Amino acid sequence: MTTLATPAPATVAVPLLDLKPQYQAIKAEIEPVVCKVMESQMFILGPEVEAFEREIAEYCGMKHAIGCTSGSDALLLALMAIGAKPGDEVLCPSYTFFATGGAIARLGVKPVYVDIDPATYNMCPKLTAAAAAKCRRLKAIMPVHLYGQSADVDAFLALGKQLGVPVIEDCAQAIGTRDVTGAMVGSRCAIGTWSFFPTKNLGCFGDGGLCGCNCPHLDEMMRMLRVHGSKVRYYHKHVGMNGRLDALQAAVLRIKLRHLESWHAGRARNAAFYDAAFSKAGAMDTRHGWEAGGLALRFPYALPAPARHVYNQYVIRVPAERRDALRAFLAERKIGSEIYYPVPLHLQECFEYLGQGPGSLPVSEACALETIALPIFPELKQEQLQAVVDGILAFLRA
Ligand SMILES: Cc1ncc(COP(=O)(O)O)c(C=O)c1O
Repeated sequence: MTTLATPAPATVAVPLLDLKPQYQAIKAEIEPVVCKVMESQMFILGPEVEAFEREIAEYCGMKHAIGCTSGSDALLLALMAIGAKPGDEVLCPSYTFFATGGAIARLGVKPVYVDIDPATYNMCPKLTAAAAAKCRRLKAIMPVHLYGQSADVDAFLALGKQLGVPVIEDCAQAIGTRDVTGAMVGSRCAIGTWSFFPTKNLGCFGDGGLCGCNCPHLDEMMRMLRVHGSKVRYYHKHVGMNGRLDALQAAVLRIKLRHLESWHAGRARNAAFYDAAFSKAGAMDTRHGWEAGGLALRFPYALPAPARHVYNQYVIRVPAERRDALRAFLAERKIGSEIYYPVPLHLQECFEYLGQGPGSLPVSEACALETIALPIFPELKQEQLQAVVDGILAFLRA
């Protein structure tokens, strides 16, 4: 007689991100516009880029949009446009992608890293004000809207006004994100910057980025700076860079922009699925520390409407000592995940000279050890979401 063993859980593979279903859905729209650009043989700036700039400016609620090479270069252009010089200081979070601090440092400016609010993973306004008080040559405040949720724009604008310095918002992960007033992030500060890296909610077919502003002077500066500082060809008023968005990317982005709201909705639906499942299992959101108990998982707190989280990433926290084992367990079940970001910027080797050593930004350091990003892309199927939840709960309850 044969005994029946408990069946192993059916394997539903869940990649962290799969861009192919999105492409399949819009292929018929994309291919003709890409062919049109190829037929025109006009690849650099030109009518496609201008049309995209008009459309994205309207979407983001800003007067001017300047397409550029990447989100990293958008930050450089923004800092150059406000006249950041070697020896100046810029306040920014440490818990972010490298480009935020890298752009500052590349200009010889000193990044002053500030700790984050554990509930939102975004730069803490109170700590920013405290750090600003110690700066001697503060040039700008640069919050990041991490993972697609708004930082406290009101607080940073008020602080910038009080100190007489501009706010540059790094919205690389936050196209379409709304702050607590319901305004699009990047639309109320001096300059907003975005990335169209393929993994972003609005991603192009390569690298691409954007600067946005409401001030005609900054608009003119950034337009000049992205073409080596010239307005009239071969006459250079400033030392700029080659920072242009190309027409093929603009053509792709124009099509994708039409679908962006439905993709945001898909991500929000998936996030709501996870939130409900984790909450039902006894977990709390990131406003609650470990001392609050419950299941040893914290799902991301989302600011209430009219704010809007666009979930470029859905990032949970688990106790540091279990995080990497959870990741390995999920990988065995063919479930993708990622650690954003394992080393905060103040602890990166290249920033040792700043002297903000271990222990200086405790929340950023804890998040680097405890966070794990789960699959969230809009085309995920219900059984895939369920497989992620089942995998995590199986691990945490074992
Ligand atoms: C917060 C943040 N800033 C800047 C960037 C840089 O954008 P890009 O990769 O387009 O250069 C990224 C990219 O991931 C980012 O996440």
